[in-house]
Amino acid sequence: MNEVTQAISEFLSREIGLPAEEVEKGIEVPRDPRWGDYAFPCFSLAKVKRKAPHLIAQEVARNFHPGALLTECTPESAYLNFRIRRESWAAIVLKRIFSEGEEYGRSPEGQGKTVLVEFSSPNIAKPFHVGHLRSTIIGHSLGEIHARLGYRVIRLNHLGDWGKQFGEVITGFKRWGSPQELEAHPLKHLFEVYSRFHSEAESRPELHEEARAWFRKLEEGDSEARQLWGRFREISVEEFKRLYQFLGISFDSYDGESFYQDRLAELVDRLRDRGLLVESQGAWIIPLEAYSLPPALLLKKDEATLYLTRDIAAAEYRFHRWNFDKLIYVVGAPQKLHFQQLFKVLEVMGHDWNRRMVHVEFGHVLGMSTRRGEVVFLQDVIDEAVQRAERVIEERGEDKEARIGKIPEGERKTIARAVGLGAIVFNDLRTRRAKDVEFDWDRILAFEGATGPYCQNAHVRCCGILRKFSGTVTAPVDYAVLSSDEEFDLIKRLGELGEVTRRAAGENEPSGVANYMLELAMSLNGFLARHRVLGEEPAVTQARVLLIHGAKTVLSICLRMLGMEVLERM
Ligand code: ARG
Repeated sequence: MNEVTQAISEFLSREIGLPAEEVEKGIEVPRDPRWGDYAFPCFSLAKVKRKAPHLIAQEVARNFHPGALLTECTPESAYLNFRIRRESWAAIVLKRIFSEGEEYGRSPEGQGKTVLVEFSSPNIAKPFHVGHLRSTIIGHSLGEIHARLGYRVIRLNHLGDWGKQFGEVITGFKRWGSPQELEAHPLKHLFEVYSRFHSEAESRPELHEEARAWFRKLEEGDSEARQLWGRFREISVEEFKRLYQFLGISFDSYDGESFYQDRLAELVDRLRDRGLLVESQGAWIIPLEAYSLPPALLLKKDEATLYLTRDIAAAEYRFHRWNFDKLIYVVGAPQKLHFQQLFKVLEVMGHDWNRRMVHVEFGHVLGMSTRRGEVVFLQDVIDEAVQRAERVIEERGEDKEARIGKIPEGERKTIARAVGLGAIVFNDLRTRRAKDVEFDWDRILAFEGATGPYCQNAHVRCCGILRKFSGTVTAPVDYAVLSSDEEFDLIKRLGELGEVTRRAAGENEPSGVANYMLELAMSLNGFLARHRVLGEEPAVTQARVLLIHGAKTVLSICLRMLGMEVLERM
């Protein structure tokens, strides 16, 4: 709640006798600012008040008296439209941003609480597909968003580092592998070996037998199998870490599926003792038909444990280790059933903390490929994004040079990286995560339209103005001069950061922040198209510079929350 929504809800709560928090949820921003700055629809009150909504609106409006922040409350059919005293709101918002800087918009709601964000979680030797990329982008952003609300954030990478594919990789590596290649390009080489295994096994099915034997050895702790697996894992993790670092991402733990392996026997015994695990055609399952779910398969006929079994152990481990308040699994929608089963099994086990867990699912990416074809390696996406961004920037460079001077070669690389990666991130996060994302290199890299570069450029514009300003930015200023519609629109949006952040965390939906940032950038550009900042009357320039400083600060906070780099020039 900010001061405005607070003032509105206090007034309404007095008038209609509902708790202020309740009323606050109903407050909206009208689509057309001519109707009002904020609005409250009275439909939901009709039942309680036994009156037509438009009559309620009229009645409530009659009792309104202008205050420090609210100047008007007018009934418009079933709506109550409120107007804010522009000058007062400008003063509150801009002063606050100026004094709090990057701290602006934080809130303490997560203080003392721990949130675990599990994301990315690729599988060793298998492709890093676009689903993993989406998980990486969404998960990283959710971590940043929660951090701004004061949560302790633990970032987990649940690596796919166990399972029968390792039998295949060991078989393949022993036949066709090269230790040198493994050292030089671990992810690529392991994938080559794994792929070759599958193509050769088509005509030589006995290879599958060999792979099964290797995996059995691995599960039994055979030293050669263990050693190869250990090396594959270690060297892959190193390479993953380098890639994540390039993206500005780090994890607190890379404990993947293998980590839980030696807890499974105890888990399975415990479930058997409690009579939760029943035998079915030689396998062991937990029936879930009472909950309209297919049975959870925990132990196969050959006693091999499964993905789900490891996830149960992982959840217990994490709860005991971190006593989390929230555990977020950022995994694609195809695994929905898996997580429904997981959460239900935990409930059946009596773990009522399963309610703290949430599967943050997401849709597909349509049309993403690189010059090398379908995405298999994260590195390819990164390389292509940076190269393409370099070209886009160079093409733009022509007309910009005069204005910002030639950007040195080294800085260009940094900019290209920020722009290329930012374009991918923004394109991913601007859509609600459950929806599919359309991907098109040219469109996402354009400086116009709903793109990452467009938003980064809004920040750059602010920096440019502030660089050219010869005075110092100060607050207070004469807030009354910031009274145009464009200025007020911008100020109103700046005032919403806290609420936007809280909502994004509550819904686990970074798109809330992405769209807010886009609208902020559009509002800023709308303002700059109609008004001049520098070279106006001193009082006007001084006030507008403060506004630009506010916009710059909030844009930069948003960029960071989304996991995009903040540029001063581009
Ligand atoms: N490695 C899995 C995959 O690529 C994702 C892991 C998701 N997390 C989990 N706890 N199951 O499909």
